[in-house]
Amino acid sequence: MLSGKRILLIIGGGIAAYKSLDLIRRLRERGAAVTPVLTKAAEQFVTPLSVAALAGQNVHRDLFDLTQEAEMGHIQLSRVADLLVVAPATADLMAKMATGRADDLASTLLLATDTPVLIAPAMNVRMWDHPATQRNLATLRGDGVAVSGPNEGDMACGEYGPGRMSEPLEIVAAIEARLGDGPLKGRRIVVTSGPTHEPIDPVRYIANRSSGAQGTAIARALSALGAEVIFVTGPAQVPPPEGVAVTRVETAGEMREAALGALPADTVVCAAAVADWRMAEEATSKIKKTKGGLPVLTFAENPDILAEISQLEAGRPSLVVGFAAETDDVEANATAKRARKGCDWIVANDVSPATGIMGGTENAVTLITAGGAESWPRMGKDQVAARLAARIAEALQNG
Ligand code: C5P
Repeated sequence: MLSGKRILLIIGGGIAAYKSLDLIRRLRERGAAVTPVLTKAAEQFVTPLSVAALAGQNVHRDLFDLTQEAEMGHIQLSRVADLLVVAPATADLMAKMATGRADDLASTLLLATDTPVLIAPAMNVRMWDHPATQRNLATLRGDGVAVSGPNEGDMACGEYGPGRMSEPLEIVAAIEARLGDGPLKGRRIVVTSGPTHEPIDPVRYIANRSSGAQGTAIARALSALGAEVIFVTGPAQVPPPEGVAVTRVETAGEMREAALGALPADTVVCAAAVADWRMAEEATSKIKKTKGGLPVLTFAENPDILAEISQLEAGRPSLVVGFAAETDDVEANATAKRARKGCDWIVANDVSPATGIMGGTENAVTLITAGGAESWPRMGKDQVAARLAARIAEALQNG
């Protein structure tokens, strides 16, 4: 339910704008108040009259409405809402948002606000796939903008692919996830995820087989319970979850800086498979193959982010969760690791090649806490994430 929630709905100029009329109805059915804003282009697709009638409110259309301007109308308008929703979010609106332009009412509202924003992109598949749009999307995600869709399918322009706006009920679900009073509402949680790449020279690096799937699922599950999630990810094979603030890093050193920089937090979950070693000295130019000689690589130890956060004297998060990927004696090794690192919980799993866990879709974990070890049955990584998120919510509530 969304009763009492105030949604500022910015309707962009795309054919999908007709679905926004239904979105207004669905939101109002659930008790939300919808204040509509139409861009000039949107007025070519839906009429202000139909939008106003469905919303039961005036439609805002012009930045230079003098009465409103005297009262700083556009600033007020963007700040009284609980959520700004842009649907459809056209390529142009996304570009304006990503670059901070403010040349009409919609873009000014989006720049003038510190209220959370959710966008539902809709555009031609080539516009969506264009590197410029993908760059803007990454920027917006990094700014903490939540994204619903787009869906894949037939498009009004006759092409097929991703670019269709999410269906109104999907957007409603994304809005509910963003505004819902989940048990982690008001909690700030940092999640590290994915592998790290440690450069040997400008073209080579050391890496590991982590896909980032489990860390991504955990970030998504925590966000779904209402947490503000800061997702610090190495070069992963899966896209980051929607609606979380994403910081992309390459090396362990960068990951450490981003994770520490994201503190204070209530909880940190270190799900990243951080490389243990880096080159003592990264070669500045490509190491050449020379006759009769092999290069000698000298390693240096990487910072242990989990141990460092667990042992912070000031500002230690109240719950620090680490992972232990083991191939033998999982429980004993993980229990020892918990003590050595000083974290509160360790999620241990057996990553022997025969289990197919690393890079796979399932996981079988043992949760090690101060109270002992608890083995969970083998299940999907999403389910492991949901269960862990629920346990974190419970622990923060009780602690
Ligand atoms: O020491 P090991 O790599 O087995 O420990 C795994 C746990 O420690 C994971 O939670 C991982 O994210 C974290 N870790 C870290 N920084 C490192 C190495 C591991 O945060 N340099």
